[in-house]
Amino acid sequence: MYKNYRVHVPATTANIGSGFDTLGIALGLYNEIEFYPDENCDLYDTELVIKGEGISEIFSNKENLILQAMDRVGKEVNQTIPGGVMKLLNRIPLARGLGSSSAALVSGAMLANQLTGNHLKKIDILRITAEIEGHPDNVAPAIMGGFCISLMDDNQAHIEKIDISSSWKAVVAIPDFELATEKARNVLPNQYERKDVIFNFSRISCLIAAITVGKPELLRYGMDDKIHVPYRIPLIPGAKEAMNNAITAKCYGVTISGSGPTLVAFSSKNEADDVGNAMVIGFSQSGVKAKYLVLDFDSNGATIEEIGG
Ligand code: HSE
Repeated sequence: MYKNYRVHVPATTANIGSGFDTLGIALGLYNEIEFYPDENCDLYDTELVIKGEGISEIFSNKENLILQAMDRVGKEVNQTIPGGVMKLLNRIPLARGLGSSSAALVSGAMLANQLTGNHLKKIDILRITAEIEGHPDNVAPAIMGGFCISLMDDNQAHIEKIDISSSWKAVVAIPDFELATEKARNVLPNQYERKDVIFNFSRISCLIAAITVGKPELLRYGMDDKIHVPYRIPLIPGAKEAMNNAITAKCYGVTISGSGPTLVAFSSKNEADDVGNAMVIGFSQSGVKAKYLVLDFDSNGATIEEIGG
């Protein structure tokens, strides 16, 4: 007889400018997933009840990332994962660069791990979900919380988690259109000039120093990038204006969140609304509707609890 579980999983912002496919931060915006397993139901026959984001875009089939991750964990531990009823309260918008697919993978992996006796550690969940996602930078903070440096080495996952100053805010400006990660990866070159690689070495060093030493003035360098941002800006109408406006409104630094189209700026609490409004105005100058959210950083990562005790 299986128990019922609820998962809370945070949104994430990956890359933070210079840390392409390596750095990510967990944000205080959460999806909630409740799973009521039924041992007579096949995993891919699970009934989905969705509220919030993505109602018309998420289906219960082999494309569903939560079910895929559950299936993958089942194979890892040699157990069959049942289907059932899954209730999703989605607050993370889909395909906007805020880690919705990582949130789905992490929640599925955690549910399946719990249902099969909790044999996997967080680092195993990172390896499994990063393999499915193709890069570890969103799944790492979704699992661990905080600011995460993550890497895969010969199929082994590694994470270093660092807490971020709680006096900083993340201001995300979310435009009213989706951008598939695959499309945003396809515009990237296969080779880079040495000067661009050196540019990123210096910027990522500043970024890690800014976060570990708590020096926000280093973020304007640390969030700069020559590996992906310049190639993706043309895919996001209004992004250039929104980023310039955020700087004028005195953010610490601003960049594309993950593969976009959302932008993320860090700022003090006092400047956060000005920065958010400035970005929304920037998007509107290109005819793009956008909204902004002022978010705290999440320091716990995904959590799972039994429903009804
Ligand atoms: N590092 C990834 C990218 C994050 O920028 O393509 C998006 O999932």
